[in-house]
Amino acid sequence: MKNILITGGAGFIGSNFISYFLQKYPHYKLYNLDLLTYAGKTENMQDFINHPNHTFIQGDICDKALLHQIFETNDIDSVIHFAAESHVDNSIHSPNIFIKTNIEGTFTLLDVAYHHWLEKPFTYKVPYGIFHHISTDEVYGSLGENGLFTEQTPYAPNSPYSASKASSDMLVRSYHHTYGLKTLITNCSNNYGPRQHSEKLIPTIIKKSLLGEAIPIYGDGLNIRDWLHVEDHCRGIDLVFHSKQYGETYNIGGNNEYTNIQIAHIVCSILDDLCPKSQGSYKDQITYVQDRAGHDRRYAIDSTKLQTSLGWKPQYDFLRGIRQTIEWYLLKYKT
Ligand SMILES: NC(=O)c1ccc[n+]([C@@H]2O[C@H](COP(=O)([O-])OP(=O)(O)OC[C@H]3O[C@@H](n4cnc5c(N)ncnc54)[C@H](O)[C@@H]3O)[C@@H](O)[C@H]2O)c1
Repeated sequence: MKNILITGGAGFIGSNFISYFLQKYPHYKLYNLDLLTYAGKTENMQDFINHPNHTFIQGDICDKALLHQIFETNDIDSVIHFAAESHVDNSIHSPNIFIKTNIEGTFTLLDVAYHHWLEKPFTYKVPYGIFHHISTDEVYGSLGENGLFTEQTPYAPNSPYSASKASSDMLVRSYHHTYGLKTLITNCSNNYGPRQHSEKLIPTIIKKSLLGEAIPIYGDGLNIRDWLHVEDHCRGIDLVFHSKQYGETYNIGGNNEYTNIQIAHIVCSILDDLCPKSQGSYKDQITYVQDRAGHDRRYAIDSTKLQTSLGWKPQYDFLRGIRQTIEWYLLKYKT
């Protein structure tokens, strides 16, 4: 039996991960700590809220006393850490909460885990638990027209969001090197799929299309992201979590590079097919708006390490995945 603390399990990726993990590992007990900020939704947990192996705890990863209590009461032996402030735009106008949640929160979690997992605190024995940190490819900065981010790419974060995630990655790294904590880090590209907050690109395009509002596209629309289906991401996390390759970092990417304007066109075409407007195309609603400050031009991930050493392969074809995702949102908005 594993007693796993999952943080951020009411958010987009965390909730998809809990659904996936509960189904795949019926002998694991999951403790889901989430503050339910504006980004966390109880409806995201509908599938599993009453599952016998799932316990929801509303609380803050910065609350040390609460973390100690959770570790003690439930004998937590692993952490999979998703909780974060995750939206770049918010980090540009309100960076403070990103520093608090993403850096201080990760530090608090690491420190409580480390002390709980040492048989005798401060004797520098190897702590026994696993700490898996979920991070982003944005820590590597921006690419030119060519090249891919590998695990060796130097960190060069450009937004307060990516700087806070880079800092949290460094703290995780330091707890492995200094204290021997069994850490794992995964850096993934842009996820898409069900349950994503409407502030993010794909849900925004869908929502604005259906409301008949302008679909905002930053700058010239030519910024490139590498899209990864959330289920493929969950499979990657699963492999890394069980890999025992402590201290290692793995990149997870979908190998699906599209410009933002291409994404808008693809989503609008699928919507034109699934629920046509009385006149014209949803593409007519696309409107270019002033670019995001410091907008990174291109992200693209090389997942060779994960593929060759742990046998991961994305299973979703992008066009199939995006169609299914749109169908999911259409169903959600109808109910
Ligand atoms: N979505 C992506 O495309 C993407 C890409 C790369 C990396 N990531 C990383 O994956 C993780 C999950 O991302 P997401 O898209 O699911 O984010 P999300 O914003 O949908 O969910 C974040 C969750 O964390 C919770 N939370 C926030 N602050 C908290 C706190 N102080 N204590 C406890 N819970 C708190 C929120 O309530 C929410 O449920 C994040 O660490 C993010 O940096 C996401």
